[in-house]
Amino acid sequence: MAPPPSAKRPVGTVTRGTTNPNRLRRMDRWIADAHGAALRRAPAPVAVDLGYGAAPWTAVELLQRLRTAAPAVSVVGIEIEPARVAAAKPYEREGLTFRHGGFEVPLAEPPMLIRAANVLRQYDEGEVAAVWARLCARLAPDGLLVEGTCDEIGRRHVWVALDRSGPRTVTFATRLGSLERPSDLAERLPKALIHRNVPGEPVHAFLRDFDRAWAAAAPYASLGARQRWIKSVRDLSADWPVVDGVRRWRQGEVTVNWAALAPS
Ligand SMILES: C[S@@+](CC[C@H](N)C(=O)[O-])C[C@H]1O[C@@H](n2cnc3c(N)ncnc32)[C@H](O)[C@@H]1O
Repeated sequence: MAPPPSAKRPVGTVTRGTTNPNRLRRMDRWIADAHGAALRRAPAPVAVDLGYGAAPWTAVELLQRLRTAAPAVSVVGIEIEPARVAAAKPYEREGLTFRHGGFEVPLAEPPMLIRAANVLRQYDEGEVAAVWARLCARLAPDGLLVEGTCDEIGRRHVWVALDRSGPRTVTFATRLGSLERPSDLAERLPKALIHRNVPGEPVHAFLRDFDRAWAAAAPYASLGARQRWIKSVRDLSADWPVVDGVRRWRQGEVTVNWAALAPS
């Protein structure tokens, strides 16, 4: 007889546990906005913070932010490093638990959300497709996987959103006051794209065009970086499949169809 999931060795590798309070706020807010309706429709939605790191801040904050959109949601932090699970246990509360595990996602019920931030960056590019497929297969039918990367304090962020059928969108999110040009975000591309930021690859062409639109929108800088970003994204959307609108652009975000940026 197969052992219960918790008795098996977790799938994956222990990596550096670097994290910071409030680091993932941009991602949390996007998830609450993009996925809030689906989370509200589910009777007892579970969201997973996979690889929450050496301290449980991001899981605590994910619960707070998702509850503003979906009050019934609960969060499970899953970590492959047992000492980090022990360190997080005292922070458990109503709606928030921590457990030991990996990419197998050891839950009885399929989650509505798996968020993996700054986890795959430390794996090989060649492993990403199989990890995505494994995690997507664990999702509930309306579930979402959000996988991406950010800097230490969350000013620059890029993530891919996937449903059970695979990758759907890529979101770029930044603190606009700190941005010199959109391609500053290149250093935070998720593992699936970071090695593809070279001539001939779609993501490279996208960032080149974004920089050009940003340069052309320079006169808008006198109205503030937000207006310049909005103008740039509006121009960019003539050639690239931008799927969100000015309400999100105002936050320093833009979301594009994955198919347009997928490695060639
Ligand atoms: C850099 S930290 C990221 C912490 C937090 N998510 C953040 O963005 O601030 C990466 C964490 O992912 C964990 N990790 C790596 N592979 C994992 C896996 N397969 N399953 C669960 N956790 C994993 C590591 O042990 C590490 O604590």
